Amino acid sequence: MSTSPTPRSFKRRYLACLLVATIAILFGGIANSGTQDPSVQEYYSSLESRLGYWILLGNTRHCGLYKKGQIWPFPIGTAQRAMEDHLYNRLALDNGSRVLDAGAGSGFVAIRMAEKGLNVQAIDITPIHIRDAERNVKTRCLEDRISVRFGDYHNLTEYSDGSFDGVYTMETFVHADDPLKVLRNFYRILKPGGVLVHSEADFTRNSELLQEVLRLSHCQNTLEKGALEKMLEEVGFKDVNLEDLTDEVLPLWRLFGFIGYVPYKILQFFGWHTRYTNLMAGVESYLHWGEGRYISVRAVKP
Ligand SMILES: C[S@@+](CC[C@H](N)C(=O)[O-])C[C@H]1O[C@@H](n2cnc3c(N)ncnc32)[C@H](O)[C@@H]1O
Repeated sequence: MSTSPTPRSFKRRYLACLLVATIAILFGGIANSGTQDPSVQEYYSSLESRLGYWILLGNTRHCGLYKKGQIWPFPIGTAQRAMEDHLYNRLALDNGSRVLDAGAGSGFVAIRMAEKGLNVQAIDITPIHIRDAERNVKTRCLEDRISVRFGDYHNLTEYSDGSFDGVYTMETFVHADDPLKVLRNFYRILKPGGVLVHSEADFTRNSELLQEVLRLSHCQNTLEKGALEKMLEEVGFKDVNLEDLTDEVLPLWRLFGFIGYVPYKILQFFGWHTRYTNLMAGVESYLHWGEGRYISVRAVKP
């Protein structure tokens, strides 16, 4: 009896090999360079990061805000607008107020603030994000309300003392190498009575895998509970108020954890997981959910 493969089983094996090769090429093509201590720009410029943010979040690089207990994460855009509105309400500034968006990314938060009546100076240190933000602002004809510029929040010398009514960061303060210096800069450029709001994910460094995630995504500045409030007071801010929004951002983190889990575990088996920082961050942050929180911190310059 002949045991030679039938044309059909050969075809099946051929197709399976083709599928595996295609997946391998796709994954290989989007892997990051393997740098162990990437700069902020290297992290955000990697194809893995750009594709991930584009496909999942439409290039808006922040969490959505959901109702407590909600499970269904869609539509993600609606939840992201709710997070931006939460920021706007926390700023509580009059129409026409001047605000600094420090770490503006592709400009969508600035756009929401401008649509609500604020004048925004948007800065970022990642060139591709600045180009994106300029294009997005132009498409919406908001150039008279939003100015986009390259800028590092560690160095704000081009802005004079007391020149802003508000300053905010949306998921970027975690990247600060010298958080105290950044807070001093924000304090200096705010008018008396000016408001600072940080909306940030804040993870402890208890697990080795989380430490790796934070290093690979250049998140230098994750703080022990109470440390940010203490720093703000040290700089001179008053009325420091922290809202814990951890439960309200959970649906999106859960989604990242679910959809990333299987590919991540396969990559981890081969030891390739650190070349896919966002995938790793999505899954590990969800698996270590209890070690992190999502906070909105508001403070006022006396
Ligand atoms: C997670 S993204 C958030 C972008 C935007 N705020 C949003 O919510 O879509 C963080 C952004 O902060 C920027 N960034 C990081 N460090 C910065 C710094 N020192 N000065 C200015 N921008 C910075 C990054 O380039 C990136 O665009």
